Amino acid sequence: MIRCQFPYFILETEALSYLFGVMPTGQLEHLYFGKKIVDQTYDALHTKLTLGAGSSILYERNEAKVFLDLMPLEYSGVGKGDFRLTPMEVKMPDGTFVQDFVYQSYTIEKAFESNQGLPAPTKEGQSLIITLVDDHAQLELKLIYTLYEGQNIIARKALLSNKNPNPIVIRKMMSFMLDVSRSDFDLMSFDGGWIKETHRHIRPLHYGTYVIDSTTGSSSNRHNPGIILMEKGCHEDYGVCIGINLMYSGNHYEAVQITNHGMMRVMSGINPHCFEWPLNQGESFETPYAILSYSNQGFNLLSTHFHDFVNECVVPKPFQKTLRPIVINSWEAFYFDFNENKLLKLAKDAQSLGIELFVLDDGWFKNRMDDTSGLGDYEINSKRLKKGLPSLVKKINQKGLDFGLWFEPEMVNPDSDLYRNHPEYAIKIEGRTPSLGRNQLVLDLCNPEVIQYIKSSMKHVMDQIPIRYLKWDMNRHITDFYSPHLPNQGMFFHRYILGLYAILNHIRHHFPDVLIETCSSGGNRFDLGMLSYGPQIWASDDTDPIERLKIQEGLSYLYPQSTISAHVSPAPHAQTLRHTPLSTRFNVANFGVLGYEYRLSDLSPLEKGEVKSQIEQYKRYREILQFGKFKRFNKNRSNQIRWQISHQDTHIIGNFQTLAEASPDFDTLHVKDLNPKQMYHLRSIKQSFPLSRFGHLISHALPIKLKHDGLIMRTIGRYRGLDNATESVTASGEILMNGYRMKQAFMGTGYDPNTRLMGDFDSQIYIVEKVRET
Ligand code: DGJ
Repeated sequence: MIRCQFPYFILETEALSYLFGVMPTGQLEHLYFGKKIVDQTYDALHTKLTLGAGSSILYERNEAKVFLDLMPLEYSGVGKGDFRLTPMEVKMPDGTFVQDFVYQSYTIEKAFESNQGLPAPTKEGQSLIITLVDDHAQLELKLIYTLYEGQNIIARKALLSNKNPNPIVIRKMMSFMLDVSRSDFDLMSFDGGWIKETHRHIRPLHYGTYVIDSTTGSSSNRHNPGIILMEKGCHEDYGVCIGINLMYSGNHYEAVQITNHGMMRVMSGINPHCFEWPLNQGESFETPYAILSYSNQGFNLLSTHFHDFVNECVVPKPFQKTLRPIVINSWEAFYFDFNENKLLKLAKDAQSLGIELFVLDDGWFKNRMDDTSGLGDYEINSKRLKKGLPSLVKKINQKGLDFGLWFEPEMVNPDSDLYRNHPEYAIKIEGRTPSLGRNQLVLDLCNPEVIQYIKSSMKHVMDQIPIRYLKWDMNRHITDFYSPHLPNQGMFFHRYILGLYAILNHIRHHFPDVLIETCSSGGNRFDLGMLSYGPQIWASDDTDPIERLKIQEGLSYLYPQSTISAHVSPAPHAQTLRHTPLSTRFNVANFGVLGYEYRLSDLSPLEKGEVKSQIEQYKRYREILQFGKFKRFNKNRSNQIRWQISHQDTHIIGNFQTLAEASPDFDTLHVKDLNPKQMYHLRSIKQSFPLSRFGHLISHALPIKLKHDGLIMRTIGRYRGLDNATESVTASGEILMNGYRMKQAFMGTGYDPNTRLMGDFDSQIYIVEKVRET
């Protein structure tokens, strides 16, 4: 709910309050953001200025003793005494930069929707729109605060309008600014690169400015736009933290500044790097939404707020709470080495194991024999698929699988018909040789003709087949940026993203039921903007589960499991050369949207049985695994990661080990969120331990002596494994939350069916279910 109790504005969700007030000088004083408060008077929240500090500048208006530099503000100006980081930089018609916005009016209306092609949350909501003006500059700035039904988030954006007869140039415009009246915070960010996306990093903050950003043209795998500010000592279930994420897929910028009087200023928005936006009289510029949330019970509660928001307000409506299918993807199965027979064989194997949807990845279209050619020419590759795409899809459908197809719509290879016919469609600067990335150039999405070409070429293919899923890939960063279709090249990156959103909108409009999985060399564009069009994202090209633990855990701070596409692939892994157990590959993918990238005919009969039961288990718990409440455990041991996902009376826990320890300590499982008075049954999922993992040790367990790597043992190993210990206990919620003492783990003292075999990279899944009264 939003209220005005002038001069105060009060925003309240079920758990949070956000307050600010109009100062006598007209600027907005930030008063509070945190746990919900019930007070009706707010004197206690004001900053009480008397004489100011040495060197501070007195703001000259109505003789009020206002030193802007010392005040927590809602959105600061330039050149009037606030020397902290500014959220906006505008070049006025007379070449000056000073801007000073003061309060004019407010409205409370239904949730603001973008009229400039930016994504917006889909749920009903309410917006508070504060209009500020700078009379001297003849500019109007609207600060927009939106609340959505049932959500514990505050969405903020800003809109600048030029009322001046002369043009201005925006050089920086943040979606929001937040001044926090304390500075004892650490900054958590999610950083990385290809195959090592969204690794969590925490750095202490001191005086100065810390920037998390991207300049690659997309939100990037270098730094996710989501950040968390945490009070020192905050952990998964304790402490104050503030989360911020940007609903945007292009160059982003998050800055945190610790200033000289114990305050912290935070802002986020479109990256000002190479940004300029000219605004003529009567024109407006709108920033993307920034999403803010808060928790006083640690990161898990903050994640719950973000997860609920994404599931209920961000992903396209037809996919909100809609179960995602289990896919088989051809990429890691064949890369570019496939033909119709291989695909059909894969589809047959997939169907027999319970997989539901077949994704034909890269390589299906004209002249695309490898990654050097063909991008842009979306006609069938008749060398590989001689009978055409509709015929292939029909056969796959007849096997009982739905069909999905890969595109890389924003790209072109110089070796393609599209480039030969339209070299001007590619981004480049006349006279400069454009740099290639993965042998390709980026199409100019600032050019309306290119947008039209992509829309119609995709629609043309999609109209021919019953397509259920579309994988939208993007495999290079943008360089040589220039478009002849822009009045100012500072508009390039933002206009590119608006072009991308226009195409995605068009595809969604024509194919509302097609599930779009976006991807950018894995998680190079994992953000709330892309999730507004495609409800799931390929989290990483890294399918090694031990790497995925870091990647998926990083993502889990900001994004729910229903958005994280996670596949089981063969080991040793192409990305790390690491060998991991099949059970762990599944156990990690299980905490996301499950799929397989696997030449399934390579599986042994034992492994086939294992995959079949993995899929059965996933289907049984799919709703919980995709839409349940996800929690991370604090790390008590450096080699252990634990996750829990719960819905109502069922709780699924993943217990993952990285490197094994010799003679490890006994272990306890502290289940979360049970009813203390209720009885529960806890069990671990049965897993088979491959004989090959014992190597020569197997001879000690066998009555007859066989060579461990000989033909007989290898053949037996294809059919039989050793059962790993399972656990089963009935106890009250009270006891299980206090801690279930797990069975002894392997301590080098021999094999026993009741000893948990936990070697390098092993893991277990535990299910805790309420005991039903009979
Ligand atoms: C990068 C993606 O992340 C992969 O999954 C795959 O689709 C390849 N591109 C295909 O070129």
